[in-house]
Amino acid sequence: MEIAVVGSGGREHALAYKINESALCEKLFCLPGNAGTSKIAENIEISAEDIERIVKFSKDNSIDLVVVGPENPLAEGLVDELEKEGIKAFGPKKAAAKIEASKSFAKYIFKKYSIPTAEFENFDNYDDAVEYVRKKGAPIVVKADGLAAGKGVTVAQTEDEAIGALKDIFLDKRFGDAGSSVVIEEYLVGEEASFLVFSDGKDILPMIAAQDHKPVYEGDKGPNTGGMGVYAKAPIVDKNLENEIIENFMERAIEGLKKEGIEYKGVLYAGLMIDENKDPSILEFNCRFGDPETQAILPLMDSDIVEIFLSTIDGTLKSKEIKWKDAYAVSVVAASGGYPSSYEKGKVIEGLEDVEKLEDVYVFHAGTKMCNDKIVTNGGRVLNVVGIDKDFKKAQEKAYNTIKMINFEGMHYRKDIGNKAYKYL
Ligand code: AMP
Ligand code: GLY
Repeated sequence: MEIAVVGSGGREHALAYKINESALCEKLFCLPGNAGTSKIAENIEISAEDIERIVKFSKDNSIDLVVVGPENPLAEGLVDELEKEGIKAFGPKKAAAKIEASKSFAKYIFKKYSIPTAEFENFDNYDDAVEYVRKKGAPIVVKADGLAAGKGVTVAQTEDEAIGALKDIFLDKRFGDAGSSVVIEEYLVGEEASFLVFSDGKDILPMIAAQDHKPVYEGDKGPNTGGMGVYAKAPIVDKNLENEIIENFMERAIEGLKKEGIEYKGVLYAGLMIDENKDPSILEFNCRFGDPETQAILPLMDSDIVEIFLSTIDGTLKSKEIKWKDAYAVSVVAASGGYPSSYEKGKVIEGLEDVEKLEDVYVFHAGTKMCNDKIVTNGGRVLNVVGIDKDFKKAQEKAYNTIKMINFEGMHYRKDIGNKAYKYL
């Protein structure tokens, strides 16, 4: 098969690596990919947002399967457009991607189908929203309704901070149409975990749980990022909790969407808050693989991912199972100096050749590109360095020993990825 991966991050490099392992994959393209994917696939200069050109490329090149990484093209209907042309595509259609693309729609589904979640109200104007914040008090969480590149959520510790976020959204229109309404919800305390499943609209096939680390500094301090590191399998999600998540969250969502007339095919990703009694609540559903979760989950998968993609599309997931390596993966992100605020690009990355020879270590590129035969930085999150081992501590050591061999000007990374897991091991 000729397969194309849409996207350019660490998630897409991990997907490309896993697809490349499949006996079904004869030729692999990445649109647009990064320096890492260029070693295992042919990069094509087409943006992940350019639906028209992606469809044209897929048609012109008789692509057999398109795998979509990021949420924006899914929410804009890329899969619908590809299917219209008779091209198989992995990912939900536009109507199903709304589970991520509209927070108020997601909340409506949670409430209607009894999926445990924080108490909330929707607002479409500033004055009513401010009155609600004043009534409820802080801490409180303000969420712009639409896709806002991960920047639309404010976890406000004071009423003034919440009202500042509402000003940004309603008065300054910081997120454009994505901020035409907001969800304001109760502040939840606990540990976050990510739980991803494949869904063919009827049946689900779970992946192993992971824990992302969103804040930029150690100890979960500082502003949120796209994710500074992750580990899988996350031991906080034991067998009981896993069953509860599957039944009360994933199955209810898929069945609920079906009752709404929406067939959900693709990856459904639950962002959960787990409290000290191990009771989970849903913070959000995403309509895609997680980034950086995918970089830790896929190296542990011992099954052919292309077969799973095809079963998801064909509605035959019931007959499938996923085999997992009996090991842990710890993945640490190397970020550009200044990230998540402004940062410079074009810094030469050193040490990558030395780490290629290491066993049980993967380096998935995110913001990188080739420049005169050198690999240079091209984004905020630059590399994901993954260590794999049966022993969690050794997996963590492999990731950190490897990242120390890599360098670029301004590089920074969190030194505590994985530490949270020890209390459950
Ligand atoms: P979301 O995009 O809805 O997952 O929100 C982004 C991040 O904001 C989450 O990963 C949490 O860290 C935080 N967050 C969202 N909702 C809440 C909540 N109700 N209580 C506490 N933190 C939250
Ligand atoms: N890990 C966060 C995300 O993929 O949205």
